[in-house]
Amino acid sequence: PIPVVIDCDPGIDDALALYLAFASPELDVLAVSAVAGNVGLERAADNAARLLDHLGVPADVPLYAGAEGPLAGSERVPDEPVHGPGGLGGVVLAEAAREIAPGHAADALAGLLRDRPGEITVIALGPLTTIATMLRRHADVADAIGELVIMGGAVFTQGNVTPAAEFNFHADPEAAHEVLSAGLPVRLVGLDVTRAALVPAEVADVLAASPRPVGEAGRMLAHLAGRYAERFGVRAAPVHDALAVAAVVRPGLLEYTAGSAAVERVGELTRGAVVADVRGVTGRPATTRFATGVDADAFVRMLYTRISRYTAG
Ligand code: BDR
Ligand code: CA
Repeated sequence: PIPVVIDCDPGIDDALALYLAFASPELDVLAVSAVAGNVGLERAADNAARLLDHLGVPADVPLYAGAEGPLAGSERVPDEPVHGPGGLGGVVLAEAAREIAPGHAADALAGLLRDRPGEITVIALGPLTTIATMLRRHADVADAIGELVIMGGAVFTQGNVTPAAEFNFHADPEAAHEVLSAGLPVRLVGLDVTRAALVPAEVADVLAASPRPVGEAGRMLAHLAGRYAERFGVRAAPVHDALAVAAVVRPGLLEYTAGSAAVERVGELTRGAVVADVRGVTGRPATTRFATGVDADAFVRMLYTRISRYTAG
């Protein structure tokens, strides 16, 4: 299996990404870390702890807490309207028995990467603040990252916070820029593909009727589908973060275009926007692969089947 670490800000689609990751024998999840994003750091870490317990993840898989707010020290802009009260669509999970491991996630992840240079895939599902902090504090680990798979950006399409910017990058454009311009091997799973791989509400409803821990996934999906219906008139759930995990589980699921990436930090209307150079005009190395196409049916099937595995035991 591919050794991975997952940095997340649960968040409903982060939660579903965890469901998928821990039901996938293709992955060996070495650690999970929480970052401020959809909800504050404490809430994100507590949600992650509850989710790991809920999914029966062994206690020796550590959970770390990372960055509390954007690199620039500005206020965190919450995404609670999308993810509902508590960040998990109103689903309340039992209090966690596991504890948050000591130390900042930026240091803990650096330690893991150093121990297995070139082997580990980092999956980043929230604002990139912790990852950028890691690269600032431990410059040597840049070379130790096997691959960095990021859910973020609206590369060739409209943003979801502003017309130009997607939530994770808009939440911390400085961090996103530092990480994306570091020349690391990156796969960027942006709104371009996540919007093309919605989970139909009927799938959410079937899962919601199942016993725990599957039913909660269905209820979270149904919450997202409801929000999406209010805004766009279609009852279907965007599960951005789960698609980024799926991209690692099944490498052929998405199509990519190579290039280099930068993130706008000063534009009045474009702060947080990805600037993709796919024609080599900047002369910067094409180390980023931008996801441009997705087999949506295969993704929805995979998500449904793997979430269902938790009941099958
Ligand atoms: C991203 O923003 C958050 O709301 C989701 O969890 C996802 O990571 C989508 O723009
Ligand atoms: Ca997220």
